[in-house]
Amino acid sequence: MSQKLWDGRFSEKTDHRVEVFSSSIDVDKRLYAYDIEGSVAHCKMLATVGIINDEEASILIEGLGRIKREIEHGDFVFDDSLEDIHMHIETRLLQQVGKTALKLHTARSRNDQIALDVRMFLRDATLGLIDLLLKLGEAFVTLAKKYIQVIVPGYTHLQRAQPVLLSHHLLAYFEMFMRDADRFFDGWERINVMPLGSAALAGTTYPIDRHLTAKLLNFPTISANSIDAVSDRDFIVEFLSTASLCMVHLSRISEELVLWSSYEFGFIELPDAFSTGSSIMPQKKNPDIPELIRGKTGRVFGDLIALLTTLKGLPLAYNRDMQEDKAPLFDAVETLTDCLELYIKMLPKIKINREAMQKAAATGYLDATDLADYLTNKGMPFRDAHHCVGQIVGYAIENEKEINELSLDELQSYAALIKEDIYHILTPQQIIDRRRTHGGTATEKVNEAIAVGQKQLAKRRQKLAELYKNKS
Ligand code: ARG
Repeated sequence: MSQKLWDGRFSEKTDHRVEVFSSSIDVDKRLYAYDIEGSVAHCKMLATVGIINDEEASILIEGLGRIKREIEHGDFVFDDSLEDIHMHIETRLLQQVGKTALKLHTARSRNDQIALDVRMFLRDATLGLIDLLLKLGEAFVTLAKKYIQVIVPGYTHLQRAQPVLLSHHLLAYFEMFMRDADRFFDGWERINVMPLGSAALAGTTYPIDRHLTAKLLNFPTISANSIDAVSDRDFIVEFLSTASLCMVHLSRISEELVLWSSYEFGFIELPDAFSTGSSIMPQKKNPDIPELIRGKTGRVFGDLIALLTTLKGLPLAYNRDMQEDKAPLFDAVETLTDCLELYIKMLPKIKINREAMQKAAATGYLDATDLADYLTNKGMPFRDAHHCVGQIVGYAIENEKEINELSLDELQSYAALIKEDIYHILTPQQIIDRRRTHGGTATEKVNEAIAVGQKQLAKRRQKLAELYKNKS
């Protein structure tokens, strides 16, 4: 057993099973760079206010730099008996620079230290995910532009409802992912708060300068209440909730890709590089990537629920339970990052089967609403028009025809108001292009939405660049 930095009052060695059980090093070692950066800022602050002298500060800072390089080169030994990343680094510092290392932890606790590390990690994770969401948004806008002439059935209840532009459908996802990006932007405000100096829970007797530490680590604000600062994991819950919602959106489009690539729909073909075959059925090409992404959504929900459950009912302030926050957080960041990266690569390579989409949009009475609107415009009350068109559809089904395949005589036997111009009106393109309400599917409106989307992307990119700049 290595000497522990906290074992002054202990007369017995820690049970080995306890060491292994309570160790979090396998999980929190990925915080090493933030831990070291936080310690370096802490040292500088301690020296500035005179709690340690300049020589001690430079010994500590140099030692921390060497440890960082050791970890990066894979020369650092991790050991369960040292519990967590904080203890590993401090113990190694003691071996490296001797007794001066014992001053590093002055005016600090692991409770505020871990709160700082996680916030620093989450700043990077948030910016990385926003960057990916903007790239995904760009991919949707590019596809919307490319396929502006493609018509697809729009569905409600998974029944063909009304024809829409494929671009309109794609831009619906653009909206969802931009809201996700905005939710991550919004969470940033609450992540970007510096907790160090809260110490164990009550603050510290040393004359520290928290604002200086914050400035050195590029935090614009410091936490207001020391008890809250070491207990608060709200910002992680918010992050996981945004991540979960983003997975919901990925899962919904995944489901559509699975359906659309099926033989039954035949609307799209997924790229070979993103599909797999069956070990027994030679004809199969399976949509594994959308399926797996749909499946991984459950994992990220689990991560959110795990943290909510861990926090529920915890008394103030820090409790060891909170060590369990990191595994779900890291899992969610990794999962969401992978899923977004895959989508960004896969989307532009999907083959669109324009004819199949067009054909589906022209069959199945997707023009019934427009015939009712036509009659309403000619003076028939909408409910009567709805009933009349219902009868026409019934007749058309019986005769295995589409509405626009019925003769004028047949149509007029249901409503004398119907004239020859109806055949021009009941085409998918006309049906689409008459839906000129703001946010509607008319080509003109979708082109406007593409232009607005591009502008919004540029604005968000600029906002992201500013956050990157402020943080570094
Ligand atoms: N490894 C701990 C965590 O992740 C750090 C804080 C531990 N504090 C303590 N008093 N044991 O939460």
